Amino acid sequence: ITEETALITIFGGTGDLANRKLYPAIYRLYAKGFLKENFAVIGTARRQLTDALFRERVASSIASIADKSHIQAFVSHFYYRSHDVTNKESYKVLLDLSNELDTTYHLKGNRVFFLAMAPTFFNEIAIRLKSEGLVATKGYQRLMIEKPFGHDLASAQELNDALGHAFNENQIYRIDHYLGKEMVQNVSAIRFANPMIEALWNNRHISNVQVTLAEELGVEERGGYYDNSGALRDMFQNHILQVVSLLLMDFPLTLDKAEIRAEKVRLLRSLDVPELDVVNNLFVPGQYDANPTDPQTFKAYRSEENVSPTSTTETYVAGKLTSHSDRWNGVPIYIRTGKRLSNKKTNIVIEFKNDRPDLFDDSSEKVANTLVIEIAPNESITLKLNVKVPGLGLATQPTQLQTAADAVDQNAPEAYEKVIHDCLRGDATYFSHWDEVALSWQLADRIYEGWKLSPTELPNYDSGSAGPIAADELLARDGHTWYPLS
Ligand code: BG6
Repeated sequence: ITEETALITIFGGTGDLANRKLYPAIYRLYAKGFLKENFAVIGTARRQLTDALFRERVASSIASIADKSHIQAFVSHFYYRSHDVTNKESYKVLLDLSNELDTTYHLKGNRVFFLAMAPTFFNEIAIRLKSEGLVATKGYQRLMIEKPFGHDLASAQELNDALGHAFNENQIYRIDHYLGKEMVQNVSAIRFANPMIEALWNNRHISNVQVTLAEELGVEERGGYYDNSGALRDMFQNHILQVVSLLLMDFPLTLDKAEIRAEKVRLLRSLDVPELDVVNNLFVPGQYDANPTDPQTFKAYRSEENVSPTSTTETYVAGKLTSHSDRWNGVPIYIRTGKRLSNKKTNIVIEFKNDRPDLFDDSSEKVANTLVIEIAPNESITLKLNVKVPGLGLATQPTQLQTAADAVDQNAPEAYEKVIHDCLRGDATYFSHWDEVALSWQLADRIYEGWKLSPTELPNYDSGSAGPIAADELLARDGHTWYPLS
């Protein structure tokens, strides 16, 4: 265990993300010894708070996971300053405190800035960090930034340019919390540590790929944000395309971040950007309606708080991606994500081809050879096979090999613990590179444009269902079906 040394400044220090994920994650790093004496955290936000009150908040955010005897020592590393992101004076206050803490805790000038607040201010903060001297230290300076990274390609480019005033690409850690998930990181191990699997990982053997990020929850209290975003921006542009690129990229020369990034970018570049007039055949938007049997609990999206009653924002998207790489040409890559579906299910399904003659008895039951990587609500790997029915005759029946299915704790800060630790170590492998972000927006922008040309009638699925019928038809046209959600 190597102890890390840094000052972590969190913009949005009183916010939901900081309380629910970041403080518990920092605490876990402390409890494990990755952070010891030589670290400090500054929380900033608009409201006035004393250090003492801030520490109480941090203490309560870790109460359920912390060893009581550690809490006081841990929170003594936390400081708070009220901050107005547009005010020069505010940065001067931060600079003075940062320099002071640098000396007190022997931080070697190492600084991590975490933007965990409304994206409207990202550009301004980055520019001011530079102009007010906060990034002029002899140690390292790194920026951690939460999604959304822009609203489309143009705004993402603008944001990237603004960040570029203070940080170069190697100093920017764009968080995609899916890349911090254990089973998403496991994808590389499953592929590259198992030659048997990697040998089959191509269009000769794979019939289709399915990536599902289904949620049972609705928009909850985030209607204001979500109604300006939608499933394509909220889940597809980032999480889905990141999972797809890790899943389908070519074998990297090493597991070094530059090699992995290069392969992911190559894969993203190989994805076809559809012509506008076929977007609607390939990408299905959806919006949830009330559940007919319990419309009070499961209301329509349009009746949610802070959502326009005539909203045309999609809460669901299903789509068919195709790649023109040698490896994947001809293999449909189906993706879907949505809110208020029947259940939470995050998985990757690889269905293998079956083009062999059937040699077994008519009574045989057969399953397509399928590899299922389940990410949530359980973490498991399942391989579906056919075996002989015991006894006389030569009939087959399906069976499966499965790893232990461990339940994922939905509120576990593990993903953030990993991303913060990686940033402190300077390892950007599981973060999104600008080239990946740009290519992903290009695809998402095209889909929006296509949808705008011929809008789909919304709402088109019931809250608590498996999604719009059109999503089933999308696969049926190719002779495929979705792997069941539950
Ligand atoms: C976030 C989205 O990025 O991911 C949310 O903004 C979504 O809308 C969440 O609910 C899903 O993450 P997870 O880890 O619960 O699958």
